[in-house]
Amino acid sequence: MKIRTDSRLPGAYWKGIFLLLCIMPLGAAAERAALIQDNVAIFYPDNFDADANLPSFALLEEPEEIGALPEDWQTRVEFSSAFGQSMAKVEVDSSTNLYGGGEALSRLLRKGGSQILWNTDNYGYGRDDGVKLYQSHPWVLAVRPDGSAYGVLADNTWKQTLSMSDDVVFSSEGPAFRVLVIEGNTPQEVLATLGDLTGKMPLPPRWSLGFQQSRYSYVPESRAKEIVDTFRNKKIPIDVLWFDIDYMDAFKVFTFDSEMYPDPKGMNAYLHQNKMKGIWMIDPGVGIEEGYFVYDTGTELDIWMKDADGEVYEGEVWPGPTVFPDFTQQKTAEWWSELYQDFMAQDIDGVWNDMNEPSDFTGPDGSVPEDNVHAGGLRLTSNGKPLPADSHLRYHNVYGMLMVKASRQGIVDANPDKRPFVLTRANYLGGQRYAATWTGDNNSTWEHLRLSVPMSLNLGLSGQPFNGPDIGGFIGNASPELFGHWMAVGAFYPFARAHSAIESDDQEPWVFGREVERASRVALERRYRLMPYLYTQFYQASKTGIPVMQPTFFADIADTSLRGEDRTFLFGPDLLVVPKWADKPSMPEGAWRVLSLVGENSLRDEFQPDLRIRDGAIVPAGKIIQSTDDYSLNELSLYVSLDADGNAQGQLYHDAGNGYGYQQGEYALIEFAATTSGDTVEVTASKTEGNYPAEIDQLQIKLVTDDGVKTARGAFGEVVKVRL
Ligand code: GLC
Repeated sequence: MKIRTDSRLPGAYWKGIFLLLCIMPLGAAAERAALIQDNVAIFYPDNFDADANLPSFALLEEPEEIGALPEDWQTRVEFSSAFGQSMAKVEVDSSTNLYGGGEALSRLLRKGGSQILWNTDNYGYGRDDGVKLYQSHPWVLAVRPDGSAYGVLADNTWKQTLSMSDDVVFSSEGPAFRVLVIEGNTPQEVLATLGDLTGKMPLPPRWSLGFQQSRYSYVPESRAKEIVDTFRNKKIPIDVLWFDIDYMDAFKVFTFDSEMYPDPKGMNAYLHQNKMKGIWMIDPGVGIEEGYFVYDTGTELDIWMKDADGEVYEGEVWPGPTVFPDFTQQKTAEWWSELYQDFMAQDIDGVWNDMNEPSDFTGPDGSVPEDNVHAGGLRLTSNGKPLPADSHLRYHNVYGMLMVKASRQGIVDANPDKRPFVLTRANYLGGQRYAATWTGDNNSTWEHLRLSVPMSLNLGLSGQPFNGPDIGGFIGNASPELFGHWMAVGAFYPFARAHSAIESDDQEPWVFGREVERASRVALERRYRLMPYLYTQFYQASKTGIPVMQPTFFADIADTSLRGEDRTFLFGPDLLVVPKWADKPSMPEGAWRVLSLVGENSLRDEFQPDLRIRDGAIVPAGKIIQSTDDYSLNELSLYVSLDADGNAQGQLYHDAGNGYGYQQGEYALIEFAATTSGDTVEVTASKTEGNYPAEIDQLQIKLVTDDGVKTARGAFGEVVKVRL
């Protein structure tokens, strides 16, 4: 199997970049640089035009300068421009490793790669060899040999190339732009600062961490019910069923097909009776049809995107001739949010926004023309400046972000007491504030299974922790073997959803035979047992900006031999996932003992990756449940792996799993500690924060040692002793 390590650009781009690099003035100084935090510098080119760049889409608020750049500030930005391109370059030491760039078809290490930041509907990642995908993250994380790190953020939305061939160079088709540089003692520190500046993923509802089954499309509703029943009868844990475009009447958004889904509320009730949730798709393209309420109201409000002549732009998507809401306008955002009132009243639990690059089947390069015009006027924040009117070239990369911002608002308005869930295909740096994401239309191939790990990791290293690929692959037919492996590893993606294309054969866990069905069940039972730990990791990500799925080198940032390891990955900081295809992976130092959670022996299992626990960690695990509806901390298991000094620590976050009580203190943080004296290990658990009850009754301690697992029981609040 061949995995490409570089991303290839079309010839013209290479030529352009080569020419530009040749003429770039070496050592040219920025016109102005200042500190905005002790560890964050901002660099402005001398020809910076605020109106053409601001307000920033990535940053939560306009930064305030706190002082001059210190003389010894290491990482500096050089600006230049030529041939209509604006460039910013950061020289990178040859021993420094580069990551990030968001969604990229690439191995984990990004040096030598290039990508075009231009949100693109990229079926099978085949268009232009996948050099541009569905999202844009003008962001690079650089890690020096000693583990210290810095991040480079190009604060502009325009079409641009991000080249990491040795140095980091952003070449934008827009006007000169400013660049932020974040310094940190560790990559985690840099990501935490990125989170402070660009916002963090809000804590999602707990059910959205469960397994999710999708296909294009489950129709009619009897088929959807059959899928629900089969999961429940076969005792394969699941939380969510997805409804793709065929539920709509002629692909018209916010409608339901009267034959396929005559009673969507009833369908959702069926899901709820079965302890499941329903997520329904909404695309941005609105079918042109007089008498269709979405088209009529949008036309009346004059909210459609215009072409360069000021006429309403007409493209083509699923419904045929289509108009596109111009989300840069305040009235568009409000109208769009309002549309969710009746939609969510069908007892819909979550929304899937797709095709929002935006995809336009007949437009240039699969999208709408770059010289289309956006009217502007929207305020990104209540005290921010309104967006100026400008070309699609400027707003293309944030079209999806603006759409999900308005969608999220609409869902919150409709269900003010529930945490919203939105999935988006297109997004931009900072977009984790509004939606989770998946990596678009991948193939049912080994190559895309293997690439899914570094793709998800780099998204996490670019501020988006809640992501994952289509498990099983979207395009084509997965072999039983591929599907089994994909489920086994997919159980450890932050967002775990199986999905497949309309032309693909059925792709549910049971269609591949008994072995694969069993492997899928075991994989998901592992995920569901780890739900207390996983929910704690999501809480941490929402607080700190540090991703849930982390590269293995995060286990020891000073160990440079781990920097390129991207077959294995960390599931939170305490568990290492080692897929079967990771032949002789670079392992962090320490024992990293193998865990067995549901009776599996991963060392002998054909599919299940090894799950290795960090020495010094305590990992909380619940019972095997079929749905997060049955989530409970009753009989909590604590997997303890002692460090060389005989100690271990862990943490558990607990709350109602939905709603906003946690923001008023209705949560519990529980700390676990293990210490050793002589041949006895003492384990304590105590609530350290919050007003929510811990709701733990009995504790089962599972001390994982080189000689097997030693078990003891005790009540919460007591010291539980285990003999070594
Ligand atoms: C796009 C999406 C895919 C979806 C299909 C039909 O290709 O990426 O997930 O199933 O559209 O809506």
